[in-house]
Amino acid sequence: MVQEASKVECPAYVTHPKLRAWVQEMVELCKPDRVYWCDGSQAEYDRLCNEMVEAGMLIRLNPEKRPNSFLARSDPSDVARMEDRTFVCTTRREDAGPTNNWVDPKEMKATLIGLFDGCMRGRTMYVVPFSMGPLGSHIAQIGVQLTDSPYVVVSMRIMTRMGRKVYDVLGSDGDFVPCLHSVGMPLAPGQKDVPWPCNREHKYIVHFPEERTIWSFGSGYGGNALLGKKCLSLRLASVMARDDGWLAEHMLIAGIEAPDGTKTYIGGAFPSACGKTNLAMLIPPPAMEGWKVRTVGEDIAWIKPGPDGRLYAINPEAGFFGVAPGTSQETNPNAMATLWGNVIFTNVALTPDGDVWWEGMTKEPPPELIDWRGEHWTPDCGRPAAHPNARFTVPASQCPSMDPAWEDPAGVPISAFIFGGRRATTIPLVTEAFNWTHGVYMAATMGSETTAAIIGKVGVVRRDPMAMLPFTGYHMADYFNHWLGFGRKLKSPPRIFAVNWFRKDENGKFIWPGFGENMRVLRWIVERVQGKVGAVESPIGWMPRYEDLDWRGLEHFTREQFDKLMSIDREEWKAEVLQHDELFIGLYDRLPKELPAVRTLTLSAIWRAPERWNLVAEND
Ligand code: OXD
Ligand code: MN
Repeated sequence: MVQEASKVECPAYVTHPKLRAWVQEMVELCKPDRVYWCDGSQAEYDRLCNEMVEAGMLIRLNPEKRPNSFLARSDPSDVARMEDRTFVCTTRREDAGPTNNWVDPKEMKATLIGLFDGCMRGRTMYVVPFSMGPLGSHIAQIGVQLTDSPYVVVSMRIMTRMGRKVYDVLGSDGDFVPCLHSVGMPLAPGQKDVPWPCNREHKYIVHFPEERTIWSFGSGYGGNALLGKKCLSLRLASVMARDDGWLAEHMLIAGIEAPDGTKTYIGGAFPSACGKTNLAMLIPPPAMEGWKVRTVGEDIAWIKPGPDGRLYAINPEAGFFGVAPGTSQETNPNAMATLWGNVIFTNVALTPDGDVWWEGMTKEPPPELIDWRGEHWTPDCGRPAAHPNARFTVPASQCPSMDPAWEDPAGVPISAFIFGGRRATTIPLVTEAFNWTHGVYMAATMGSETTAAIIGKVGVVRRDPMAMLPFTGYHMADYFNHWLGFGRKLKSPPRIFAVNWFRKDENGKFIWPGFGENMRVLRWIVERVQGKVGAVESPIGWMPRYEDLDWRGLEHFTREQFDKLMSIDREEWKAEVLQHDELFIGLYDRLPKELPAVRTLTLSAIWRAPERWNLVAEND
């Protein structure tokens, strides 16, 4: 249904007076030429994609190679999440905390109203109703996004449950999160559009947690523009979760199936572009016959206590917005199979026969390509063919490893949490926390080398508590407190583990082969939960001995290599604990007392340890 903006009429099936009034108000502010109410149908999706192809905003890929798939090329200024342009606007600055950018909500509203005034002139405003989580699930949340980007509309149809049926669940008085988005590039009469409209000068991704609204201006890329994802499902949902006693986390959810058919579900938090998607879709090495990994989600988990005292998690998303570079038949065959068709690629390279390519997809690059900026590319030209943060957007239902329960509105029971970062030194392959409080400390002090998923310097270690540094919508110390209290109320809280797949040797080579071989670590974790396997006490947690892991098929990985992977270097750990302190000092006003207490215990254990603690010495 398309209509002139000045006389906005809602379709009869939109019976929610507050929603109708909000759309009217936003139309008066943004002044689009037209308003279009999305129904979420396949016909609508196809029509919008065709219109974008005609307008030069999408390239249709060769249907014989990649049916119903498209390539978008973004503006070079709009290629990733922009943390420095992301704001949490609470009335009191201290409620947003020192890890979020804060501006007084009244001042921010005034700025945004100035920017949004007339920002959709010459464009269509799309009304996009969506549910995060299976429609009608008691864990799900409804949002309505207004956007002037058809690329966002089709992406939201893949990433969320989007369309008319959302209004049936919403009724006339249900709760919804109003999400306003504009690319911030109005068109003057007769002005020709560009393939990727955005605003090069002004970008704002703004959350008002007290009002539970989101305003995003100037960017059309990923987490800045698909407002159901990071903005609603993490930043706002983390606030809802704090208030209502649940968890909204930057976690994959996977079910680990043992040869006897028992399944253990885990939640795994890793910073952006640290292999969450690969882990969630892992294919175990052939020698570990009978073990399987089933995918529930690969980016976000909403976790609530169930009536039986266990934790139940849902994946609020319906699609994957995954990092393409590095994805291959070797690293993630399930993702490659998922990408057979119905994909929107962004900023990957185009092959001469109309398919896509990115760094790492094949060992040998094709002899020529069109790169992500639309320029001719050869392997020796010195530029990457795909942008390092190039993405695929694809329905999760296409993934061969999806768990039968992945859309179960009740969620899946979680038995363990895994926290991991990308660390070349210091952090062993795997450690298990001594208890919940110690686990929260391990998760809170997690560090990782930064990746291309965000704008900024790549490869520097930053503290990224629970992989939630860019996504917690309130004071980080209150978030720690919420975690501590949350576990205390559970009869048997999930065990907590820290992992690091990325430790390097003195020659800068990864020690651990990673990918499918990570199944060996997952098996140990599952069997620890079941009380079936041993561990030794190290200064920083429980650790597997060499003989506690399944080495079938990887017998060439020696005890000595394992020892190197698991060793604890006293001087490195002193420096590590100092960095924990830096994090804590920054949050000191609200820091729960438990955390500095665990830090003291950790430091004294390290202090007393030999210069290089290792399993071989421990076993002697
Ligand atoms: C993502 C991210 O896109 O974490 O998932 O940046
Ligand atoms: Mn993510």
